[in-house]
Amino acid sequence: MQHAIEVRGLDKRFGQVHAVKNVSFTLSYGEVLGFLGPNGAGKSTTMKMICGFLEPTAGHVTVAGHAIDEDPIAARRAIGYLPEGAPAYGEMTPRGFFEFIGRVRGLERRYLESRIREVVARIHLESVIDRPIETLSKGFKRRVGLAQAILHDPRILILDEPTDGLDPNQKHEVRSLIREMAAEKAIIISTHILEEVDAICSNTLIIADGRLCFRGTPAELQSRSRQHNAVLLRLPEMDAIRVRGELARLPGVAAIDDLGRAGASRRLRVCAHEGRPIIAPIAERVRALGIEPEEIAVDYGRLDEVFRNITLGSLTDNRRALT
Ligand SMILES: Nc1ncnc2c1ncn2[C@@H]1O[C@H](COP(=O)(O)OP(=O)(O)OP(=O)(O)O)[C@@H](O)[C@H]1O
Ligand SMILES: [Mg+2]
Repeated sequence: MQHAIEVRGLDKRFGQVHAVKNVSFTLSYGEVLGFLGPNGAGKSTTMKMICGFLEPTAGHVTVAGHAIDEDPIAARRAIGYLPEGAPAYGEMTPRGFFEFIGRVRGLERRYLESRIREVVARIHLESVIDRPIETLSKGFKRRVGLAQAILHDPRILILDEPTDGLDPNQKHEVRSLIREMAAEKAIIISTHILEEVDAICSNTLIIADGRLCFRGTPAELQSRSRQHNAVLLRLPEMDAIRVRGELARLPGVAAIDDLGRAGASRRLRVCAHEGRPIIAPIAERVRALGIEPEEIAVDYGRLDEVFRNITLGSLTDNRRALT
């Protein structure tokens, strides 16, 4: 099957700044790709090149089967793009802006009117539809940008931090919207909210210092955590030392972290060797000692810890490569 997006050896230099370094990946319809990376990693630059808003220094982008440099009109027709920041044309009202965008995209008048009605209702823009965009709050400006991106119902969406600046209810709404649209579209979102990746993305891509350093599912990302499949235990303080000594001898236990006292109890985290499940033998051993744990639970790992390790590790590697 034809890929929705194909990126090969994409590279971008701004003078001395090497913003994107030899990035390649593909994306299929039905996928939501979460694009992660620290500030300045090259996410927005990559997205702009995919949409044809920025010319790459090297490399190729194919969108819906059209090479962006050879057939930019057909490629752009297939794409809806939410750039970072607020929409241009701040003096227009959202209604005027959507009508303008619709005409630029060559949408037939009646179809455009019905799309505007649908999108305005879906993104809850009724209350601001006739106010100049520049007078709207940050979150509403963001929502106007998102509405503009989906107006022509494109099969491919490139959304640069779509939930940035939204209140929690709207974040929830926009995530639901993305999930609803996901089945028949190919969507790339960039985000700094790691839970968002878990909530809506089927795949993730991490970029650091312009270089791709991870591609996999959110679960695969989480499984790289040192804490993946660790067991959290809360025990009476008087039993903690004995349990600790016993569990340390169990095969499959990599380390035991003392998480401190909580009242008359102590909390321990038993880390699993290579993230393999260990809750069953741990529960069995604790009970064999005649101790009933006050709490026993599996920790699936922390995305923020994995993100830090991957991105900081990659920066160190790059620095090493330079010296
Ligand atoms: N027009 C430009 N001229 C010069 N340098 C630029 C330009 N646009 C981006 N850069 C640089 O390219 C690098 C990547 O920037 P980019 O905006 O793609 O990062 P990002 O991953 O989107 O970051 P953020 O999370 O802050 O949005 C940065 O060092 C940035 O300063
Ligand atoms: Mg950005």
